[in-house]
Amino acid sequence: MSNYHIKHLEEYYQVYRKSIREPENFWEEVAEEHFMWRKKWDTVLSWDFSKPEVKWFEGAQLNITENCIDRHLTTRGDKTAILFEPNSPDEPAEHISYKQLHTRVNKFANVLKAKGIKKGDRVCIYLPMIPELAISVLACARIGAIHSVVFAGFSSTALATRINDSDCKMVITSDGSYRGAKTIDLKSIVDDALEDCPGIDSVLVAKRIHSEIAMKAGRDEWLQPLLDEASSVCEAEIMNAEDPLFILYTSGSTGKPKGMVHTTGGYMVYTAYTFKNVFQYRENDVYWCTADIGWITGHSYIVYGPLANGATSVMFEGVPSYPDFGRFWEIVEKHKVTQFYTAPTAIRALAKEGVDLIEKRDLSSLKVLGSVGEPINEEAWHWYNDNVGKKNSPIVDTWWQTETGGIMISPIPFVTPTKPTYATLPFIGIQPALMDEAGEELKGNQVEGRLCIKFPWPSMARTIWKNHERYKDTYFSAYENKYFTGDGALRDEVGYYRITGRVDDVIIVSGHNLGTAPIEDAINEHPAVSESAVVGFPHDIKGNALYGYVILKDTGESRDQNNVRKEINQMITEHIGPIAKLDKIQFTVGLPKTRSGKIMRRILRKIACKDVSNLGDTSTLLDPEVVQEIIDNAL
Ligand code: WT7
Repeated sequence: MSNYHIKHLEEYYQVYRKSIREPENFWEEVAEEHFMWRKKWDTVLSWDFSKPEVKWFEGAQLNITENCIDRHLTTRGDKTAILFEPNSPDEPAEHISYKQLHTRVNKFANVLKAKGIKKGDRVCIYLPMIPELAISVLACARIGAIHSVVFAGFSSTALATRINDSDCKMVITSDGSYRGAKTIDLKSIVDDALEDCPGIDSVLVAKRIHSEIAMKAGRDEWLQPLLDEASSVCEAEIMNAEDPLFILYTSGSTGKPKGMVHTTGGYMVYTAYTFKNVFQYRENDVYWCTADIGWITGHSYIVYGPLANGATSVMFEGVPSYPDFGRFWEIVEKHKVTQFYTAPTAIRALAKEGVDLIEKRDLSSLKVLGSVGEPINEEAWHWYNDNVGKKNSPIVDTWWQTETGGIMISPIPFVTPTKPTYATLPFIGIQPALMDEAGEELKGNQVEGRLCIKFPWPSMARTIWKNHERYKDTYFSAYENKYFTGDGALRDEVGYYRITGRVDDVIIVSGHNLGTAPIEDAINEHPAVSESAVVGFPHDIKGNALYGYVILKDTGESRDQNNVRKEINQMITEHIGPIAKLDKIQFTVGLPKTRSGKIMRRILRKIACKDVSNLGDTSTLLDPEVVQEIIDNAL
């Protein structure tokens, strides 16, 4: 009997040790006992980090939607699978049962087929948090099409880049979306994007806000009439365990976004197993993750992980501040939410609003609180623990990444004693390593270094879409035989991990992973800009905010600097999206560069943080004077 549900600390250590000593036996037992396979594997694991190549459950066949839907029909057919809570509290919630989900996914899958989508084709999904989003994801998986969900807050340029990178054939979108009191015209963003996407043959449009929109004849079609006509029977496509399930883009420290490729079997096993344990999920729980399905958190812990366990997963369309900052608590009370999983940036924003909005709600259903996306600071941790959890709902601070597919370091609630700001212990099967500057592994406790993972786990991304070299360079070349995460971490005296933050040029703003390079590229598109550098600085609510140093071209004309600032943020909004806008823009005549031309971001970061007491060694700079100039004009 595999230990699918860990219940106390001794058991954690025992299962952890087994998962490290005999990883293949361990994962084989989990896979065998808890999932539905059309054919069992020939090999549990084969791997070589030098290539890098990782295969789990090779030879096995399955369809993930049979595991997430069909197999629950006999035992949980009428149970709510997806509990949709609309943007407006006045619109009733929608309870989609497993049976209804089955019908809707099958119908959607048949629509995709009728439109010529086949196994292996890429389908771009650009939808707000409405049921069609989860359903279209599952419909793709049903027929073996590879979904590429693009967060519906991304701009048309960002959308076009992602569509073209993975050669998508179809886009699924909606007429628009609700966001608090605002509506957003999603379809026109898609139309703009598609000007540059010759590979798109068809666009399916869900009706949400009932606005007048342009429909391009021969390309665009309303979804609902097609669904009405479609058969509700669609045989699941039989997939190999290592067939791609989806592509999800994440920003890199350089250049264009990376299309992380996740495959089917291992991803399913790991997301389901982590979900069960990290949230201590029980049959009648109502689990709510506030993330958007456009991010990995939503893929793994709104859709696949919960549904694979036959859970009820809440899907919220709106924002935490609408109609007021009490909305989250209203929803917890209304649906008697038992597990609540959100991001530190949301916690900090809500903490600012005081506790009155919490106190008027009954949050006694809550059992487990989760945090994800960035380090949670001590103050936010305590506020969350005291006011939301009333000191008796453990906080699981879950560290992981788009690339890891599932939670990697996290307490197991009621099992692992928590410690503020610590993600605590590696999850079952995960072998972290901390590396020093010289590339040596730091052994023992009370050490701090760069966080790597030494051994494969089932849900790791297998490659970057059409760019395996970049996958190797980014993750497997910094340290031999190890996956490098890009994060720094420390291990305390009892072996608990605390993530200290990114050590590369990725900045986490409000839990969103942003690369400096694409933002700088967007700024440099402004006709008046000659060069720029972006760094992060601490921000009360967002965790980090962005500070841009910008050199303007010398055209002899005078310019209104505030206008240029606005235009720069406009450029960023168009190229990436509003999440990447700069909080501060300092115009400067130069940037601190080394003789080889590399910008010394370390110095810019310190200036942005108003910490100029010790700038370290500036002797290798080409022009050390420029540093004083930047300090004198800092914002
Ligand atoms: C980066 C990955 C995986 C879900 C959402 C983000 C940071 C994530 C934590 C945490 C400290 C965290 C890391 C990581 N991060 N969770 N609990 N404590 N940092 O996915 O966009 O791929 O970003 O988010 O820096 O590398 P992502």
